[in-house]
Amino acid sequence: DAYAVVMAGGRGERLWPLSTPEHPKPFLRLFNGKSLLEATLDRLAGLFPEERTLLLLREDLKPAVEALEPKARVVYEPSARDTAGALVLALAHVAHEAPQARLVLLPADHYVNDTQLFQNDLTAALEAADPPHVVTLGIPPTRPETGYGYIRLGARENGWHRAEAFVEKPTYATALHYLQSRQYLWNAGIFAFAVPTMEALLEAHLPEHYRAYRALRAAIGTDAYPEVLAEHWATLPKTSIDYGIMEKAPHVRVIPARFGWDDVGTWRALERTLPLDEYDNAVAGTGRHVGVETRGCVIYAQDGLVATLGVSGLIVAQLGKTVLVADKERAHEVRELVRRLENGQ
Ligand code: GDD
Ligand code: MG
Repeated sequence: DAYAVVMAGGRGERLWPLSTPEHPKPFLRLFNGKSLLEATLDRLAGLFPEERTLLLLREDLKPAVEALEPKARVVYEPSARDTAGALVLALAHVAHEAPQARLVLLPADHYVNDTQLFQNDLTAALEAADPPHVVTLGIPPTRPETGYGYIRLGARENGWHRAEAFVEKPTYATALHYLQSRQYLWNAGIFAFAVPTMEALLEAHLPEHYRAYRALRAAIGTDAYPEVLAEHWATLPKTSIDYGIMEKAPHVRVIPARFGWDDVGTWRALERTLPLDEYDNAVAGTGRHVGVETRGCVIYAQDGLVATLGVSGLIVAQLGKTVLVADKERAHEVRELVRRLENGQ
């Protein structure tokens, strides 16, 4: 009986000022009034009962997550240690109850257009996840995106495609080459594996994470848990599953996904997932937009009025007293603004 683990502790910096540390991406209500996190959990309902659905996020998000009353078991991280940290903690909780179980690990920042197709592919991924295989879902790429991981689609073996190479966030030139070669898929960041598979990969590639895993697994259900968690979290290096494990894992299978998908990572994702007006503008928020000769812009008016004249290709976002104006082509650099603000500049 498989488990689902939803990771919702990312910062979503590239969606600033919509996404902030106190109100990060998974809590944004972007599509039909539902938060990305609620939509993610809804998509899993039916496949995994509440007691086998784990939700991983930072402790400081407790008030936000409790307000949602999620149908999941919430596991808190003392601080952000990136996705490999979340993996270690989730794996310890699952292994403590079911040492041979299979699990699927999913991000909470995705847009998926068809729940039935999504669930079919997830079921297939769990089926393909016999040890020592890790399974990922692969999305046919449509642009040379540098914010994703790429998987080289290999031949079929025992009915499943081998993933021949895994390259996390390549340069633009490499991404363009991958796109044109038609031999690569985007990594959807959805991984299925059995507990022993991941234990062996942690031991081989992330020894500090493996140590933390062993200690946590032994401490779960005892009074020592909070202390053991605090102790290991203080020194656990920050790394992602993609760099830390997937680029090195020798036995990876990939299932080409059949559902429509997007990572709602930058302002441009709104353009790809929201309906566009007749001038190709993506407009969101409960405020008002008035545009004259405004084309191909991403406009967000939280509660105010945004007026634009004779512009194209801009991101304009109003949230409270903060206004962002950026070149749409540079949406992924919004993170630099966040860095600057954090440094008090
Ligand atoms: N619990 C927890 N703790 N969750 C985290 C943490 C953490 O410290 N850091 C990130 N997450 C969550 C995010 O909220 C998100 O749901 C998921 O983990 C992935 O993190 P992102 O920061 O969104 O990763 P990414 O989009 O840059 O890259 C990953 O996803 C792409 C597709 O969406 C990679 O897996 C890429 O290879 C992949 O293409
Ligand atoms: Mg993401």
